Amino acid sequence: RDSHDIRLAVIPGDGIGSEVVAEGLKVLDAVGLKVESTTYDLGAARYHRTGETLPDATLAELREYDAILLGAVGDPSVPPGVLERELLLRLRFELDHYVNLRPVKLFPGVATPLGEARPEDVDMIVVREGTEGPYAGAGGVMRRGTPQEIATQESLNTAFGVERVVRYAFDRAAARPRKKLTLVHKTNVLTYAGDLWARIVDRVSAEYPEVTTDYCHVDAASMFFVTQPRRFDVVVTDNLFGDILTDLGAAIAGGIGLAASGNVNPARPGSQSWAPSMFEPVHGSAPDIAGQGKADPTATILSVAMMLDHLGLPKEAARIEQAVADDLVERRTAGAGRGTREIGHDITERVTG
Ligand code: NAI
Ligand code: MG
Repeated sequence: RDSHDIRLAVIPGDGIGSEVVAEGLKVLDAVGLKVESTTYDLGAARYHRTGETLPDATLAELREYDAILLGAVGDPSVPPGVLERELLLRLRFELDHYVNLRPVKLFPGVATPLGEARPEDVDMIVVREGTEGPYAGAGGVMRRGTPQEIATQESLNTAFGVERVVRYAFDRAAARPRKKLTLVHKTNVLTYAGDLWARIVDRVSAEYPEVTTDYCHVDAASMFFVTQPRRFDVVVTDNLFGDILTDLGAAIAGGIGLAASGNVNPARPGSQSWAPSMFEPVHGSAPDIAGQGKADPTATILSVAMMLDHLGLPKEAARIEQAVADDLVERRTAGAGRGTREIGHDITERVTG
């Protein structure tokens, strides 16, 4: 088949998920690639109807696509943790999305709580480990609900798992103009895991003499994200620190409506460890505004651009990113009051040219 075909699995999910995904698909359509997409009904509605979160047969089907586009899952009617662990985290683990990629980039014209910050001050990529750390599900509970309850939640860090994400981060850093990699951890307190991460960064750095390496404790990093975001170019960090730090990143770069992400399996297509990567906005299903046509689809549209870049279509990705950048510049003056579909429409028009 033609190499520019994309076979895409779409999981709109819950709440605003389906609203923003519809706009993402419109923009994707406008770049003129041949896309064959199939929609999967997963999330809260499916769970209530059938009790299923991610049936094995569906997972097996999803493996056959080139990529997955996800809106958001989650609803107050589903017990916390069910969809997160059994659907989202399961997809990340099963498809070995060991890189969780979250750009933190301030587009021109976008308001930031940092006040004085300019676009060149906030331009980094956070490479968050996606399959290990405290999210691996290790631990347990005893005597639950009693005064003697014990709960443990262990952080798993393997040399293999850390090295592969660190190598990915060095590759990204080497390809950027500033060529700087910052490890963010808490090596002074989490001495076993922190030591493993620090030694691996140190060892791998010898293979990337052109990349400057730096280290920052996670608490200090949260401060510097706000006071000196310019310090950061590529950040590599563990699963939990990366989760928290990237919400802060989203806030400084214009808010949750703009933050895109990729759950990436970087293996080469055709290799044994390859599986489709999954792209999604950082935000959730926003039950407070769902169904009102108010959600900003920009984060999803930028996630579509990341997906094209990942699939080896950088020109098409850049066209979408430019269309978003142009739309954002005008939002300041003319953009107020537009809803989900208007923003999607306007960005689509710009891509079409
Ligand atoms: P949320 O991201 O859904 O909403 C937080 C706040 O941001 C809300 O006030 C919401 O209206 C606003 N917001 C979010 N996206 C927006 C957009 N595109 N445009 C304009 N405003 C937007 O986070 P929350 O409320 O903590 O979680 C709601 C549900 O989503 C929960 O069930 C949670 O588990 C789930 N969730 C799912 C995620 C995923 O699918 N990857 C990620 C985060 C949360
Ligand atoms: Mg999060």
